[in-house]
Amino acid sequence: MSIAFLDGNYLPLEEAKISPMDRGFLFGDGIYEVVPSYAGKMVGFAPHIARMQSGLAAVGIKLDWTEQDWSELCHRLIDENGAGNLGIYLHVSRGADSKRFHAFPETVTPTVFAFAFEIAPAPVADLAQAKAYKVSTNQDLRWDRCHIKSTALLGNVLHFQQGYEKGHGETLLYNANNELTEASACNAFIVKDNVVITPPLDNQLLPGITRHIVLDTLRRDGSIAIEERTVTMDEVHSADEVWITSSSKEIAPVTEIDGVPVGNGQVGNMWLAAQTLFSAGKFDY
Ligand code: PDD
Repeated sequence: MSIAFLDGNYLPLEEAKISPMDRGFLFGDGIYEVVPSYAGKMVGFAPHIARMQSGLAAVGIKLDWTEQDWSELCHRLIDENGAGNLGIYLHVSRGADSKRFHAFPETVTPTVFAFAFEIAPAPVADLAQAKAYKVSTNQDLRWDRCHIKSTALLGNVLHFQQGYEKGHGETLLYNANNELTEASACNAFIVKDNVVITPPLDNQLLPGITRHIVLDTLRRDGSIAIEERTVTMDEVHSADEVWITSSSKEIAPVTEIDGVPVGNGQVGNMWLAAQTLFSAGKFDY
């Protein structure tokens, strides 16, 4: 049985109930995070909370929780749910109003909901064990504020579904200029001539915590060149390697795009090098 948190109480997940007038339900008016945790140790807790605080500020949801409050919640959920391989889902909606009206209610108490769910064991930096992804591509038809981790994910859901229906595990997205933005639930990287390249942070993509850890880890190590710059889809299609990153996938190799092999179609050595460094240092974040 999974133990969740809702508005101050810990309770079995199936007993957690919210009002249908909650603006998270009616409008997708909320901010969320997913923090990975292995044997009780979280990866990127502080940057995840910082991103949530800036998301709440960006959409004007006022919640006076400190990093310490979030830490206590996460640790309690980890303990209550067996401290194995867990994703900790954190969700703050603007709250339940008495009417359905687009403007922010003057007085409303945000709804805070959290639960823990089992995730796969952390990826291992091993070419033979790597989980390779086949992906689709689509023009990014979401909104212009993709840097905000909003619970309004219908655009992402529709893009993910487009790939899923073709048997693909993700969908790479590109803007109207044919430039890579990210994937429907991951950031994206390419490797060309041993240089690791990823689109720069702007309103077109989520500032992924895994993306940050990858770049920071490689920068500190110093042996692999990295570039944050615009990536065209032509470059994606002619890349030696393509990776997608997210909290639960860490660095996942992409070996096929729209049915065409990436590079030689095998998981690459640059992935191995990057995932090795990531695995070694991730609990420092
Ligand atoms: N997805 N881009 C998008 C659109 C995402 O939804 C995610 C994460 C990422 C990667 O971010 P991070 O490295 O901080 O997990 C990039 C989460 C896990 C989800 O929606 O389940």
